[in-house]
Amino acid sequence: MFRAIVDDDGRVMKMSAQDTDCTVPIPDSMLGTNFDGWRFRDGSWVEVPLPPISNFSLDDLLSPYEGSDNSVIHAMLSLARLEPGENIIDLGSGDGRVLVAAVNDFNAGTPARPCIGWELQNQIYQLAETTLNEKLTEDVKNRVRIVCGNALDAIDDVKNADVVTLFLMPYGIDKLVPMLNSAMPVHDNKRRLVSYMYPVFAWEPAEETMTLENGTRLFMYRR
Ligand SMILES: C[S@@+](CC[C@H](N)C(=O)[O-])C[C@H]1O[C@@H](n2cnc3c(N)ncnc32)[C@H](O)[C@@H]1O
Repeated sequence: MFRAIVDDDGRVMKMSAQDTDCTVPIPDSMLGTNFDGWRFRDGSWVEVPLPPISNFSLDDLLSPYEGSDNSVIHAMLSLARLEPGENIIDLGSGDGRVLVAAVNDFNAGTPARPCIGWELQNQIYQLAETTLNEKLTEDVKNRVRIVCGNALDAIDDVKNADVVTLFLMPYGIDKLVPMLNSAMPVHDNKRRLVSYMYPVFAWEPAEETMTLENGTRLFMYRR
C-alpha cells in the first residue's frame, strides 16, 4: 500500500511508502494520472491501492530517501580525509551524489577499487544510474559502481573500502552494526567511517565530530 500526493486536479505527483516519509518516483506510465477515475482531495495524502511498483520490503528500509546537500557531502569526505585513489562505499547511496563528489571533487576510486554505492530501491537506483551518466565524464565512469541491493549484503565491498559513508536513520545504523563489525574490525585506524546526522551508537564515541552551520552533525570513526 502506498500513499499518493496529488495536485489540485487530482493528478498523482509522487508517492510515499506507507508509514514512512519515503517518497518514490512514479513510473512514467502513472505520472499525472488519476487512477481509474479516482479523484483525490486537494493536495492531501490519500491512501490508494496500487500495483506493486517497488522491489523492496519496508522491513529492509534502513532510512527513507533524502539526498545530502553538496556542502554536507564535502564536509563528510573532508572529515574522512579522503585521498585521491582511495575508494568509498556509500551504504544507502540514494541518487549517487556522494559517489559523484568523491570521484569528481576528491579524485577518488580506481578501476580496480571503484567507489561503490548500495541502494535498496530500484527506482532510486535507476535515478542514480542517470545521475552518474550525466555528471561523470567517460574517463572516470569506470571508477564508480552502484549495486541495487540491500546494504546488509555489502560486506565484501565494505571489507575492501578505505572510507564508508552513511546517512541513515538510527535504527538503520543499528541493523548494520554486526556487518560493519565483521567488515571493519578495529585494526590500524587507517580505515574510516563517516556518518551524517546520527552516530553509530554501538561504537565507542567518534574520533572526530563536526557540527555544520545548520546544526546537524557528522561523526567520524577510525577502524
Ligand atoms: C537518507 S538517504 C541518503 C542518500 C545518500 N547517501 C546521500 O547522502 O545523499 C538513504 C538511502 O538509503 C537507502 N536505503 C535504505 N535502506 C537500504 C538498504 N537496506 N540497503 C541499501 N540502501 C538502503 C534509501 O533508499 C535511501 O536512498
